[in-house]
Amino acid sequence: MSIETASSQTGHLYLVGVGPGDPELMTYKAVRILDTTKVWAVPMAKENGTSSALQIAAQMVPSNGRKILELCFPMKKVFLGQETDHHLLQAWGKAADEVITYLDRGQDVAFPTLGDTTLYSTAFYLLPMILERRPQTKVTVVPGITAMAACAASQSNPLALGDDVLAVVPAAFEDDRLRHILTTLDAVVLMKVYRRLDALIDLLTELDLIEHAVLIERSGMPDERVYTDIRQARGLKLHYFSTMLIRKKKVQM
Ligand SMILES: C[S@@+](CC[C@H](N)C(=O)[O-])C[C@H]1O[C@@H](n2cnc3c(N)ncnc32)[C@H](O)[C@@H]1O
Repeated sequence: MSIETASSQTGHLYLVGVGPGDPELMTYKAVRILDTTKVWAVPMAKENGTSSALQIAAQMVPSNGRKILELCFPMKKVFLGQETDHHLLQAWGKAADEVITYLDRGQDVAFPTLGDTTLYSTAFYLLPMILERRPQTKVTVVPGITAMAACAASQSNPLALGDDVLAVVPAAFEDDRLRHILTTLDAVVLMKVYRRLDALIDLLTELDLIEHAVLIERSGMPDERVYTDIRQARGLKLHYFSTMLIRKKKVQM
């Protein structure tokens, strides 16, 4: 059996899920690859801001002594299938160019990203930009534990069970599909709820689902908060790291 190490290919890009906050929820593979990669490219929402992915990663793997590339990914809505905002494309292109500088020198680069790499992660805005400019780039995607899994686990509840059909919805979008999803599906994860909470409380009340919802803010972090009655969170300024879980049915005993 051959075990891939971070330095086995030069100029290799690693997109690494670091889990939702609790450093112990980083996988062994994420820790190993971050440990053996000297250049980290970290996502930030604004120039000179902070990177949650970096903060999580650095709790398991010291970041000092490494080159940290701070990449700016502005927080703007992306509508797939529609023309992408050109400011976003510019920012992603600039981020890709910075990473490519190091890949071209034969250095491996790791991109730690919050939660899982494949779920609403900037990693997949960066990757196509890099591959367009540098198609020969070798890429490894390391999955991570999702925020929704951590949130459900913290409540000792499943995300879905038996014949439950589960939907994952980015609630930041004012989307007609949400009412339909909430009405027809058995279990729903609402991500990016932080600016939409009051409207969601109204909708869930109207659909008689309020008792089935739980809200978890900053899961796995020292200041985690859980609202089992989400009406109590009305009017609060939630942290961006807030997820709502709704599950309608229970096993009959
Ligand atoms: C851009 S998405 C990233 C999702 C991430 N890739 C994942 O696998 O969970 C950001 C959303 O993830 C959720 N999230 C991330 N970390 C969280 C945490 N520690 N607690 C609760 N929700 C979190 C929130 O819904 C937040 O708005």
